[in-house]
Amino acid sequence: MTSTAIAVSGLRKAFKDKVVLDGIDLEVPAGSIFSLLGPNGAGKTTTVNVLTTLIGADGGTARVAGYDVQTDAKAVRAAIGVTGQFAAVDELLTGRENLQLMVDLSRSVDGDVVQKLLDRFDLTGSADKAVSTYSGGMSRKLDLAMTLVGNPQIIFLDEPTTGLDPRSRRTMWTIIRELVADGVTVFLTTQYLEEADQLADRIAVLDQGRLVAQGTPDELKRQLPGTHVRLRFTTPAELDAASRLFPDATRDDEALALKVPSDGGTKSLRGVLDRLDEYELSAEEFSVHTPDLDDVFLALTGHTTEVVAS
Ligand SMILES: Nc1ncnc2c1ncn2[C@@H]1O[C@H](COP(=O)(O)OP(=O)(O)O)[C@@H](O)[C@H]1O
Ligand SMILES: [Mg+2]
Repeated sequence: MTSTAIAVSGLRKAFKDKVVLDGIDLEVPAGSIFSLLGPNGAGKTTTVNVLTTLIGADGGTARVAGYDVQTDAKAVRAAIGVTGQFAAVDELLTGRENLQLMVDLSRSVDGDVVQKLLDRFDLTGSADKAVSTYSGGMSRKLDLAMTLVGNPQIIFLDEPTTGLDPRSRRTMWTIIRELVADGVTVFLTTQYLEEADQLADRIAVLDQGRLVAQGTPDELKRQLPGTHVRLRFTTPAELDAASRLFPDATRDDEALALKVPSDGGTKSLRGVLDRLDEYELSAEEFSVHTPDLDDVFLALTGHTTEVVAS
């Protein structure tokens, strides 16, 4: 396999007269995690569907594992695993039966693969229960386990954690990191900046059919209003005094609030509090704000994530 897992150039896709992908270029090195970040309706699933040969593109080229998705779809399919946005598991079957079904459909020769995957995903205890009794996190794990049956080199995960509780989300992140440690390439879509930041080597931001930014999480975050501490005071005099203490801060006179840049770590938070203490100032309210998808879009595009209804 080449060192480029996915290479996309000028990719276009429209549904009737609605342009969904308007010329997309991206490159994903083998063994890395690439995250396509965008709000609902941005075209993430459409991109995944083209790259996984489920639908054809209208223009441009896409190579996955070195094969052209248009002309060599079969070879692409043999190299990839796909976990869709909506779980592909059969609710009426048990976890074990779902996995066995995948094994039977694939040409897997490893007789133990079902049990190995159940163990790996901590699903053995519920393996013989119908999937309809599983939690959302368990279904997602099973879905991902099913994706791994054929030992794919490249895995597409379409919003793998949307709707999961924070604990299941973290479990999923751990599993994704382990996959990459094993040399697998992961193409991940998400609506969460934090998720892309946690997992991805590179992030591309999709907005209205175009990639409006691409880079490492750090490169991207440098373009954003950073993490900051928000201090709210009760009087304008206190706000004045505080803003003299923190010359880098931006003030909101109406809200009597001060936004102090900070990395959000305990050390820098303590620094802010100590400095207030030193001058016998106390904030009415103290909160840490990390940028979210709305901040990303506002910074990169001048608008928020509102997507015009189709
Ligand atoms: N088969 C289809 N026919 C018509 N419109 C579609 C189809 N699939 C997706 N779309 C439209 O394309 C846009 C992008 O959809 P999608 O790729 O699912 O976005 P995302 O996964 O980022 O939420 C949406 O406006 C959606 O309504
Ligand atoms: Mg989608």
